[in-house]
Amino acid sequence: MQAADTANDIAIIPAPVELIRRSGDYTLTGTTKIVARPGSGSEAEFLAARLRAPTGFALPVVGGNATDGCIELLVDRSLETALGHEGYRLSVNAHGVRIRASSRAGLFYGGITLCQLLPSAILSAQRVPQPARWTIPCVDIEDRPRFSWRGLLLDPARHFLPPEFIKKFVDVMAFHKLNTLQLHLTDDQGWRIEIQKYPRLTQIGSVRSESPRKGDRKQGDGTPYGPFFYTQKQIRELVAYAQDRHVTLVPEIEMPGHFLAALAAYPEYSCRGGPFAVRTRWGIEPDILCPGNDAAVGFVTDVLGEVTELFPSRFIHIGGDEAPRDRWKNCPKCQARMRAEGLAKEAQLQTWLNHRLEKFLASRGRRMIGWDEILEGGLTPDAVVMSWRGTKGGIAAAEAGHDVIMSPTTHCYFDYAQARGPQEPECIGGWIPLEKVYEFEPVPPTLAEDKRRHILGAQGNLWGEYMWTPQDVEYFAFPRAVALAEVVWSPSQSRNLGDFLGRLRRHLGRLDRLGVNYRKLDQR
Ligand code: ACM
Ligand code: ZN
Repeated sequence: MQAADTANDIAIIPAPVELIRRSGDYTLTGTTKIVARPGSGSEAEFLAARLRAPTGFALPVVGGNATDGCIELLVDRSLETALGHEGYRLSVNAHGVRIRASSRAGLFYGGITLCQLLPSAILSAQRVPQPARWTIPCVDIEDRPRFSWRGLLLDPARHFLPPEFIKKFVDVMAFHKLNTLQLHLTDDQGWRIEIQKYPRLTQIGSVRSESPRKGDRKQGDGTPYGPFFYTQKQIRELVAYAQDRHVTLVPEIEMPGHFLAALAAYPEYSCRGGPFAVRTRWGIEPDILCPGNDAAVGFVTDVLGEVTELFPSRFIHIGGDEAPRDRWKNCPKCQARMRAEGLAKEAQLQTWLNHRLEKFLASRGRRMIGWDEILEGGLTPDAVVMSWRGTKGGIAAAEAGHDVIMSPTTHCYFDYAQARGPQEPECIGGWIPLEKVYEFEPVPPTLAEDKRRHILGAQGNLWGEYMWTPQDVEYFAFPRAVALAEVVWSPSQSRNLGDFLGRLRRHLGRLDRLGVNYRKLDQR
């Protein structure tokens, strides 16, 4: 191990709320036991499994009381007031390690912090050859997240991402205490989730005849793409895998726009009737769902019904962005609906549709999220807004008493370039360097004090047009997602770019161990 990688060098990301360094250290040995107190569930076993592989120690998980030298995990509901649902206390002294939390999530995060106090070799999947000393500095840490929504978005619709990669990504997210992964499962260019009632969605919608050519996006590449989709069994496995790591998978089913893959399979739910083919270029499709047609509204609610069966997430994302409403202007059914419902503008027809979706989701105990375009025709009563065209929409929604997730193109679009210059890979455009992400403030200073609680958190989006492989996704995601993790977890007053970059340099050694294809830091 290198000198910079000793355990005395504390570099925790995201920075904890409070960290007190004590003198001395604790060493993990072949006789260390992990004591799982009642209520700690599988967290002790999870931590043990993580530590066993690199150390080769037995690390038995036992019940009963703490003993000298042990690592103890304890749930104490009374800590909820001090630590919230996800916070933890971690104390390390020469005689042992104790992690306390009000819930299993807190124990999990305490375990992550413990791993970051150990040499980065602890993240190795294989036994690390001796002589590695598994030493942890003595500390008292109290920690809890600033926001409840600490998110990233993946886009398997544009380029499919295999389930094994989603699992790896969830692992890396959890290692940064990120807890929400939005899956953009459907778009003009592909439908990627099995829906049993409508098999053509994946039979037809998960295949496109070609894709934009790499390096020349206006041309086609002449290569059929697909069928690529997640089966319901795979979705269930992914949901369970993420749950074990305290990550919620939030499905996004786009409607009424970005919907051409569905219309290629079921053209009768469009305004014009088709036929359509799954889109082979990036960009926005003019043909969208026909909300004038009761059967089309039934179709999308059926789809959401199956989706809510698969995903336990309280939040379900219905997209709602970039839906050109021109087809509705010329559609007799849409115009009849508008007259019957007294709607003056097409934007209000989108709100009418959202109302149906929101009520349907509420009947299943869920809440609807949409991109900020859902403000245009008036928000439905319980809609949650994901603000992407800047923070304006988010501010308006929060002021009207709606919950908001901030994901503006100015700071959170991780498909934009990280640096300028010919060495960077092709991308959609834009420029959001690491430092810019780090300086993001999810709560706009102009927002009234009593409305600030409506900002649930923030999310970085990895739109997939120019990410052909999982390695590409990792390159665009990291280390920017590391900066976002600190933005959404750590107190705003403790944010310090220089300090963060110092910790990040050491943290990259951990990403190496995790096999993440991150972008190297610029030499300075
Ligand atoms: C979006 O980037 N169209 C939400
Ligand atoms: Zn119509």
